[in-house]
Amino acid sequence: MCGIVGYVGPKSTLEVLIGGLRRLEYRGYDSAGVSVISPSGHLETRKKAGKLGNLVAEIEEHPLPVANIGIGHTRWATHGAPTDGNAHPHLGGKRQKLSLIHNGIIENFAELKAELVAAGTSFSSETDSEVAAHLIAREFEKSGDLVTAFSAVVVRLHGAFTILVIDEDQPDVIVAARRNAPLVIGLGDGENFLGSDVAAFVEHTKRAISVGQDEIVILRANSVEVRSFDGKPVQLEEFTVDWDASAASKGGWSSFMAKEIADQPQAVADTLMGRLNSDGSVHLSETDGLSHEDIKNLERIIIVACGTAAYAGDIAKYAIEKWSRIPVQVELSHEFRYRDPIITKNTLVVAISQSGETMDTLMATRYAKEHGAKVLAVCNTQGATLARESDAVIYTHAGPEVAVASTKALTAQITAGYLLGLWLASIRAVVPAAELKRLGKDLLKMPGRVSQVIAGLKQAERLGTEMADAKSVLFLGRNVGFPVAMEGALKLKELAYIHAEGFAAGELKHGPIALIEEGQPVVVIVPSPRDEESLHPKVISNIQEIRARGAKVIAIAEEGDDQVASYAENVIYVPQCEPLLAPILTVIPLQTFALALSTAKGLDVDQPRNLAKSVTVE
Ligand code: G6P
Repeated sequence: MCGIVGYVGPKSTLEVLIGGLRRLEYRGYDSAGVSVISPSGHLETRKKAGKLGNLVAEIEEHPLPVANIGIGHTRWATHGAPTDGNAHPHLGGKRQKLSLIHNGIIENFAELKAELVAAGTSFSSETDSEVAAHLIAREFEKSGDLVTAFSAVVVRLHGAFTILVIDEDQPDVIVAARRNAPLVIGLGDGENFLGSDVAAFVEHTKRAISVGQDEIVILRANSVEVRSFDGKPVQLEEFTVDWDASAASKGGWSSFMAKEIADQPQAVADTLMGRLNSDGSVHLSETDGLSHEDIKNLERIIIVACGTAAYAGDIAKYAIEKWSRIPVQVELSHEFRYRDPIITKNTLVVAISQSGETMDTLMATRYAKEHGAKVLAVCNTQGATLARESDAVIYTHAGPEVAVASTKALTAQITAGYLLGLWLASIRAVVPAAELKRLGKDLLKMPGRVSQVIAGLKQAERLGTEMADAKSVLFLGRNVGFPVAMEGALKLKELAYIHAEGFAAGELKHGPIALIEEGQPVVVIVPSPRDEESLHPKVISNIQEIRARGAKVIAIAEEGDDQVASYAENVIYVPQCEPLLAPILTVIPLQTFALALSTAKGLDVDQPRNLAKSVTVE
């Protein structure tokens, strides 16, 4: 994982690097470090274990010179504990004039290290990354040219890496490479940037180029050159970042997560914008890579995703199957390709990923493509690897999501899932067009309803705060409420470090009910009673069963559900909507509940322990 930033230009390099790292800290926060080269030609490095604040304090104590070139890194530890010594950048060679940062894992590092040790190199860290620093420094001593040295080494590295290098003896250039880890170039006027994603530099420029697999970047203040590992020039394709830079700042909120919860009406509205007409019909222009013929021939859809994105997939499954009658299965990306799944040319693989860089999901989609499937990505980050490698992309327009625990990206993903379902259904034409339009019109009303939920979150906040001492919380749901229950439990695990589990309410009697004892808090997602086929009575029975055994129930129910109040200690009401669309609303109080509980425990809600937002290792 790890976040990477590079800058060459006239601005205060340190400010650009620290600003970039602040926006990338979601990728890892075990340690941070920077290297700069001063105009007088001296390389200086500062690095510190712990969050970025520790590095900033270190630099205040030991200031860095004004500089026009530098690289910065925020780490999620893989090889070596999160100590000062293992923090990046790593210096290479005896000269110690070359500085390197790395995101990824060099799988053959042990073999390369043995070679270096045999040649007399001593190491100052336990990382795999330091190997690359020494190898490039050794080549540099031979050729005297950083690009030549770098090109000779990257082809020897196996695994995943984004690597950036600067050297005191060639102080005008950053050389970078990318294999199986993200790297984006930001284009400025007399200045250029590198970042793990566009968030690293969106404050300074919206012009970007995403770097392809096995490519080397040679970045100077006034020029950008990209070559393939075998030395061929690469044609550059520029795109414009549509994120608003201010969206990646806290803007007065207590945490990024609190802000991102509040951003959800906009995230849902922006994801619908231009795709859903006022008559309820869907228009998905980004799906050009998939013909109507492809859709008509589809035999099956497989959704691959991890974490919260997988719950968005679970919700989409209910809608897509119901509306289009195409069978859908949802697979955790890391399980998918290792069980020899059945894939044909009539399989559509839908990969859902906020970052578009989750390695498990990338590997699953590559596998699917190799086996003949078409791949459609649902992705929030422009220029991400997943988007580049898919046949079609539906971008969720949630804007930058900084808090590690996903909130607005999830509701945007669920929204995209509904759009996809309606679009597929309109082509398959099993459900009458008028019914699809009715559903589309209801979907158009969701941003307004999300705003109503956001305005009424005080109760969820109070309940979360009051339950700071809870040791365990269970979540129950049925139908589309089931993945919502799973997501509610995941949020509590991620943020509050307490035992939490989500169950299908119907499964309760098959085992989990044994967990219920006096005082056990249980959150129940109650389905709408208005639906003819509603599971409402069954869920009410489930509530009675657990209350009879001492559970304390918090129900999430729709407005107008008069029955539920007599069965639950607390009821959080959300507006009425088409029952299949309800997850966009019911999941929000669960986000706030987890945020409040974690805050009451005094924990860091934006950067929970052991996690990173974008998991770019398998
Ligand atoms: C990590 C994060 C989760 C996220 C998952 C998938 O596990 O901690 O919050 O849901 O990755 O991330 P993606 O970027 O693929 O949606």
